Amino acid sequence: HRPWPGLIEAYRHRLPDARDWTAITLLEGATPLVPARYLSELTGCEVHLKVEGANPTGSFKDRGMTMAVTDAWTKGQRAVICASTGNTSASAAAYAARAGMTCAVLVPQGKIALGKLAQAVMHGAKIIQVDGNFDDCLELARKTTAEFTQIALVNSVNPVRIEGQKTAAFEVCDALGRAPDVHALPVGNAGNITAYWRGYCEYAADGTTDRRPRMLGVQAAGAAPLVHGAPVSNPETIATAIRIGSPASWNGAVAAKEESHGVFRAATDEKILEAYHLVAEHEGVFVEPASAASIAGLLAAHAEGWLTAGSTVVCTVTGHGLKDPATAIDGMVEVEAIPVDPVAVARALDL
Ligand code: F0G
Repeated sequence: HRPWPGLIEAYRHRLPDARDWTAITLLEGATPLVPARYLSELTGCEVHLKVEGANPTGSFKDRGMTMAVTDAWTKGQRAVICASTGNTSASAAAYAARAGMTCAVLVPQGKIALGKLAQAVMHGAKIIQVDGNFDDCLELARKTTAEFTQIALVNSVNPVRIEGQKTAAFEVCDALGRAPDVHALPVGNAGNITAYWRGYCEYAADGTTDRRPRMLGVQAAGAAPLVHGAPVSNPETIATAIRIGSPASWNGAVAAKEESHGVFRAATDEKILEAYHLVAEHEGVFVEPASAASIAGLLAAHAEGWLTAGSTVVCTVTGHGLKDPATAIDGMVEVEAIPVDPVAVARALDL
């Protein structure tokens, strides 16, 4: 038995950029593919959750970040910058800390979940709040790196990010022994759907798998440019991670949808929150609201008859629930403290 070496080492033969790299790694990847019994019963399919919250910083971003930070380091750059709704900044901050590099993060003011901010703080990133939304932050990061080339841009517009993230599709196929029939995931800036599709295509192209899944890309209803076919200037959703109006990987997402005979759908905040509670209460998997969008989209697709009964479905849940503790405890009912007495415990439990 060989211990997991991190995804660059594990998939180096499928990552041409990384051939000669000494990886900056937190041993990301190899996340669990958890069978989802309750969702399977609801949909009549065999549903699995790809639990990306199990990555070192609690989101799928680590797959791209080990690549982007190693690339920057190898090129001699000693500072990285990103725009972020929170997870990219948490991941960039951690990998930069690991490499001994400076990290700057541009975040939309007041619109990033507490856990993610805590991570950037703890890893010593320079946190720059911007009076604008994610799309403004990304444009600012692009302009800054165009002018100051000693700073590496580590958003998913950096092509090595997508390369790293495609390994999640490899892991899904490796775990199932085949590709799934349907793959559902939340879509914000659209790097991840682009990456998964690339991974599935590469495995199918060399015969490792015999099929490619239909891709189901789910956006929040208030931030659904791909569903509407046009950018949204004031995106709004409780799922702050995907509060994005102008996805950078627009073309990649459209290609994934079209080539896979897939679909984009929108989920309202209400449906996202329902799915958020459902997956925590019935599957024991606590994800952040944006991640629950994939579950909401899956349930809607099932209700509309889009899913074929008996299909194998993988739902990527992109980030850990602890990223956003405020949304989790928002609905909590305040209860009075009880005396130190077993009878009082029994009474509280209605026994
Ligand atoms: N889910 C979570 C938890 C995310 O943080 C993101 C993106 C997505 C889904 C969407 O992925 O952008 O590749 O389509 N978060 C970025 C960030 C934008 O800054 O952390 P995508």
